[in-house]
Amino acid sequence: GAPVRADISKLEAGQRMTVEWRGRPIWVINRTPEMLERTLGIESERLADPDSSVPQQPAYASSELRSIRPEIGVLIGICTHLGCSPLYRPEPEAAVTDNWPGGFFCPCHGSYFDLAGRVFVNVPAPTNLEVPPYRFEGDDIIVGE
Ligand code: FES
Repeated sequence: GAPVRADISKLEAGQRMTVEWRGRPIWVINRTPEMLERTLGIESERLADPDSSVPQQPAYASSELRSIRPEIGVLIGICTHLGCSPLYRPEPEAAVTDNWPGGFFCPCHGSYFDLAGRVFVNVPAPTNLEVPPYRFEGDDIIVGE
């Protein structure tokens, strides 16, 4: 099919937008330097697959931030447990779990993920949120492959 595009020119720092690509919800998150710092500061023992070693996504997802541009995260917004839609909870919050650094919380069975979509240990979801294949066209357009 034809490539799908997302215009991120109005996506403010700290915000998340959802677009639909090929019937799937795609999240684009404009992560602030402070959010990136919080994400990179997570102890790797707390994450099930900190370097995204499971080959479920493009090569550029095999890094801590799992993205082409550090600040722009692109994720498929579907919980890898049973397919619910996790909530965007970008701020640290004790109500989610101890030392919650911000990310995504799935209310169906209590899985949580960091702002790069990396899954924490001891939650039902088995793998990180998937990163879809995409590329940039100029500064403001993301093209889903
Ligand atoms: Fe998300 Fe079960 S579907 S935790």
